[in-house]
Amino acid sequence: MQYLTEITRLLDGALKGDRSRVVDYANQLIAKLRSENNAKSAERLQSVLARSGGAIGVQHVSPSVPVDSESRYPLADELHPKKSEISLFLDDRILDRVREFLSQVEFSDELLAAGVGITPTMLLHGPPGTGKSLTAQYIAASLGLPLLVARVDTLVSSFLGSTSKNLRNLFEHASRRPCVLFLDELDAMGKLRDDQHEMGELKRVVIALLQNIDNAGGNIVLLAATNHPHILDRAIWRRFQFHVSIDLPSESVREELIKSLLSGESISFSITKIAALASGMSCADISSIVRDSIRHRVVNKEPEVCFRYLVRRIIETRLGIHLPGELPEPQVIQQIHLLNEKVLTLRVLADLFNVSPPTVGRRLKETSQAKATSNG
Ligand SMILES: Nc1ncnc2c1ncn2[C@@H]1O[C@H](COP(=O)(O)OP(=O)(O)O)[C@@H](O)[C@H]1O
Ligand SMILES: [Mg+2]
Repeated sequence: MQYLTEITRLLDGALKGDRSRVVDYANQLIAKLRSENNAKSAERLQSVLARSGGAIGVQHVSPSVPVDSESRYPLADELHPKKSEISLFLDDRILDRVREFLSQVEFSDELLAAGVGITPTMLLHGPPGTGKSLTAQYIAASLGLPLLVARVDTLVSSFLGSTSKNLRNLFEHASRRPCVLFLDELDAMGKLRDDQHEMGELKRVVIALLQNIDNAGGNIVLLAATNHPHILDRAIWRRFQFHVSIDLPSESVREELIKSLLSGESISFSITKIAALASGMSCADISSIVRDSIRHRVVNKEPEVCFRYLVRRIIETRLGIHLPGELPEPQVIQQIHLLNEKVLTLRVLADLFNVSPPTVGRRLKETSQAKATSNG
C-alpha cells in the first residue's frame, strides 16, 4: 500500500490528539503527492487542510526545541540543509551505502508492504573531520527534511538523572513531525564513566537511549555519529540498521575536494601533487588549509593561490611542528623530505626555505653522515 508511512503517522498523531503532528504529516503527504504528479489528490487534501488552517503557506509554528531542565540549553539545533549548499566528497563505496539508505527511506512504504519494512537508522563512525556530520546534513537535505542535531554532551552534561528525561523529550519532539534526528558525538556518553558520575548513571542512560530508539519504532529517521565506535555499547550498536565507516580520504577524494575548494581560483600548480602530499590528513584539515591559502592570497593581494603556502601548511600539519623561515636542521629536513620525496624535491624544498637546491642536498647528506658516525 502506498503512503502507508504518512498514513500511519497521521493516524498516530490524530489518536494522540497531536494537531501539529497531523498537520505536518499531512503537508508531507501533499508534497509527496505533488512530486509524484498526483496533483488532484494533493489538491483534495490541501483543501481539507486549508479549511482547518493547516495548509502549506498558512502560518504554522513548528514546536520549539526542548531544553535541558537545569541549564535551559536547547537539547538540539534545528538545521535546514540544502543539497545545493553541501559539497560532500566520499569514496564511492561509502556514497553507495548512503544512497542505498536514502532509497530505502524513500521506498519505506513499498518495503513495508513487501514484509521487509525498515527502521531507518544509520550509525556513522570514523576519525574526526572525515564528514560524518556533513553526511547527516546531506541525508536530511536529500530527504527534504529538517535536521535536528543533538549534541550528546548537552544531553548528558546535565545533573544526574536529567539525562533520561532529556532523551525522552528529544525523541518525543523529533517524532512530532517529519525530520531527521542526529545524535552527534555519541562518544560523549563515555564521559559518564568518569568519577563525577557513578557507573550506574551510564547504564541508565544507555537503557534510556535503547528504550527511546525502540519506542520510535522506525518512525524517526535516526542518525548517529561517533569517533570511537569501539567504546560504544554493543546493544546501541545493534540498534542501527546501517553502519557506515568513513575513513580518512583516499588520494582521489582528496584531489576532488581540493579541486572543488579551488574551483574559483586561478592556479599554476598541480592539484594532484597537493593531494598526494596531503596523505593521511582529514577532509576537515585539508579544507581549512586550502581556505586559508585563499585568504592568504586575498590579504596579500596576490594574483594566485601560493603553492609554497599550501606546501608549508601541509608539512606543518602532518609533522605537528612550526616550520622556521630558514633551512631547518638535518633531521627535520630529512623528515620533511620523507613525507613525499616525489613532491618535496630538492627544488621545492629549496624554494620553501629560500636557498639553492645543492644547499638542501648538502643538508640532507649531513643526516646520513651523522647517522654513520653515531652507528660507527
Ligand atoms: N568528506 C568531506 N567532504 C567535504 N568536506 C568535508 C568532508 N569531511 C569534512 N569536510 C569539511 O570539514 C568540516 C567538518 O567536517 P565534519 O562533517 O564535521 O566531520 P566529522 O563529523 O566527521 O568530525 C566540514 O564542514 C567540511 O568543511
Ligand atoms: Mg562531527
